[in-house]
Order: sequence, then structure tokens, then C-alpha cells
Amino acid sequence: MAHHALLHPFCFAAKPESEMIKVVRAEGSTLYDDQGRSYIDGLASLWYCQIGHSRPEIADAVAAQMRELATYHIFDPFTNEPAARAAEMIVERSPLVDGRVFLGCSGSEAVDTALKLARLHAQRNGEPQRQIVITRSSGYHGTNFGGTSAQGIALNREGWGELVPHFVEVPHDDIEALATVFAQHGEQVAAMITEPVQGAGGVFPPPEGYLQGARRLCDSHGALLIFDEVICGFGRTGEWFGAQKFSVTPDLMTFAKGATSGYQPLSGVIVSRRVCETFEEPEFMLRTGYTYSGHPTTAAAAVKNIEIISEEGLVDRANHVGAKLSEGLEALAADGLIESHRGTGAVRAAVLDRPAMNVRDEMLQRGVIVRPINNALAMSPPLVITDDEIGRIIDTMEQALRTTP
Ligand SMILES: Cc1ncc(COP(=O)(O)O)c(C=O)c1O
Repeated sequence: MAHHALLHPFCFAAKPESEMIKVVRAEGSTLYDDQGRSYIDGLASLWYCQIGHSRPEIADAVAAQMRELATYHIFDPFTNEPAARAAEMIVERSPLVDGRVFLGCSGSEAVDTALKLARLHAQRNGEPQRQIVITRSSGYHGTNFGGTSAQGIALNREGWGELVPHFVEVPHDDIEALATVFAQHGEQVAAMITEPVQGAGGVFPPPEGYLQGARRLCDSHGALLIFDEVICGFGRTGEWFGAQKFSVTPDLMTFAKGATSGYQPLSGVIVSRRVCETFEEPEFMLRTGYTYSGHPTTAAAAVKNIEIISEEGLVDRANHVGAKLSEGLEALAADGLIESHRGTGAVRAAVLDRPAMNVRDEMLQRGVIVRPINNALAMSPPLVITDDEIGRIIDTMEQALRTTP
């Protein structure tokens, strides 16, 4: 077999390029391939395209920024206006309004930075023994070494040799198990990391009171709470961040995806005032960061994207999208076609009585994209998706469920 140069992520490496779907164009919630076929994008690409595809406002903002200052770094002593403005707009919308924002490109970079900052906070507070990070099963925190070590999807952790030490996983739905780990290792725990709603692991909203319980345990044992908001952030749950949806304030929050609706690769960590204060002594230099931290063009995309989300009321619209999806899924459950459904805001999953891959494939054939995760079909559409398009997702799921083993 002749190998193509492009090595795809999360893909069988032997799969020929010719078998891939070549996406050539997208608009709103619809994608088009090179065969002229169209697809409803029920996952907003990879859970990120809140404002829908190919919005000219972003293209214009990015082009204008590129003509003025396409790129320059923000390591000491440099800064730029779009990066500072994006940070300000993000922190203002978070529950950590007096905090600060560190910028990167990918969710994985944000996660690894948050993990480093949590350890650094303990070191600088005179508690160097605090190195443990508690994680939850079914969590997904990206694929850098820190995030790989933190994630609760076992297959993704295998095959890379030894991972980062001092990560302790608890079953994701068991607050007692979390309390036990704190009781055993409390003095050694730097932080707990969790998604508010677990996404890539299968769309699991937190059990009632779980995040509040985690907050209390972190507080009583002197550990930080990190919310990985890479999927939940920027309106996906029906609030700007999952933290606000569940009324729990973490110490560090990661974000990516919806920050630019994916138009440019931008991520970051929102750092609470309390944590910032351990770094803000005049003689202390923060020795971490990325070449593209604060990249002005990605920041310009974020500024325009956040303006669009705000002006078009898309945070609130996530609740409407979620209610419509949920209504459709409820009907499928009532007909006995699915076992159940779950989700928060505009991130939802249908739970089947069998592995979901064949149903996903049939839906793809019929022009609708959803994501199979074990026995679940995950959905996280653009927040601008119309009711008709949501109807098409549900109708197509019904047809696929009726015709697929
Ligand atoms: C919760 C969460 N954290 C981190 C990541 C990693 O982000 P990236 O793929 O941009 O590195 C993802 C990606 O899906 C995610 O869902």
C-alpha cells in the first residue's frame, strides 16, 4: 500500500487517505465534501464551532489583524492589544473576574499548564510535598504527557511507556471514593482536575452535588480545584462556563475550542486571584509558556467570536438547542429505540443498548455527523443550529436505529 504523507490523529494508521471524507466547504451547521454530499454537523466539528462555520465577520477580523500585525510573541517585554483584550473579555465572563488569563493554542497545552501551575502554587506556598493530582474515570484532558496521565480513558493512556507520576484516579460517579483518597493522601494533594460535564469520555453530567462536594473536599484538604472547561466553556452548557452552570467556583479553569469557535487555535488557563498572588512577587519569573501564547491573530478571532456569542445570545440559545435535542431523544426513548439520554445544555448523548459505531456510520451515510463513544452517540452542534436541522438529526438517528443492528 502506498502511504500518504498525512498521519491522522485518532485514526487507524493503516487507513488509506482515499477512504477519508474530504471536507471542502462548510457554512452554518452544514459541511460539504468533494463528492458534493452535504452533512449536518451535529458535533460542531470537535465540540467547538459555537457560531457556525464560515462566518465572514471572523474572516474579516482575522484578515484585518494579519494586515496590521499578523504575529509577534508576548514573552517579556512584549505584548499586543488583541491578546490583552481577549484575556479581559474571557476573564470578565468567568467566575474568576479578578483573575488573569494565560494563553496557549490547544486544550492539551492549557491542561498541562494548569497542572504545572497547581504544582507551582503548592511549591511556592511552602508545601512541596503536594504533588498528587486527583482525576476521574471517563475524564478527557488532551494528549500531552500531563493530560494523558490525567485522563480517565484507559486506552488513551496505553502504549506510551511510563506516564507522569502522582496521578490518582477515582470512579467518576463516587464522591465517597474521592473523600477516601483525600482522607488517605490529603496532605500530598496539589489539585483535583475534572471537566464540569465529561465530554469525550461519553457526555456525563456530574452526579447531583458532586462538584460542590469536590469543592468542599479540596478546601478542607488545602488542594486546588481545576475545571477543564475545554468543551464546557463559551456557552456550551447554557452558561458562559460550566462553573457557572453548576454554581461551583474552581481555582483554575482551562478553555479552548469555543473561545474562537475553532476558527483559530487558541486556548488558555484562567487563574484565580488567590493562585495569581503566589506568582506575583516582583522577583518571581513564570518560566512556562508557548511560542504562540498571545498570538495576535488567534486573539483577534477570539475577540470577534466572543462579541458574536454575546450579541446573538448564543449562551442562552444553548439551553434551547439542548431542550430541542432532549425532546427528540425522549421520543426515541419512548419508542424503545434508545435506552436513555443524558447531557447538559447543548451537549447531549443518546445511550444505546449496543455499540454505537454502526449507527453512527449509517447516520453519516444519511448526511448527519454525530460521535460514537462506546454505546453512546454524542451531539454538540453549533449553537446557531436551526430547529429544522435539529429535527433532521433526530429523524436521521431514528431511521439509522431502525435499520442498523
Ligand atoms: C475537556 C478537554 N480537555 C482537553 C482537551 C484537549 O484539547 P486539544 O485537543 O485542543 O489539545 C479536550 C479535547 O477534546 C477536551 O475535551
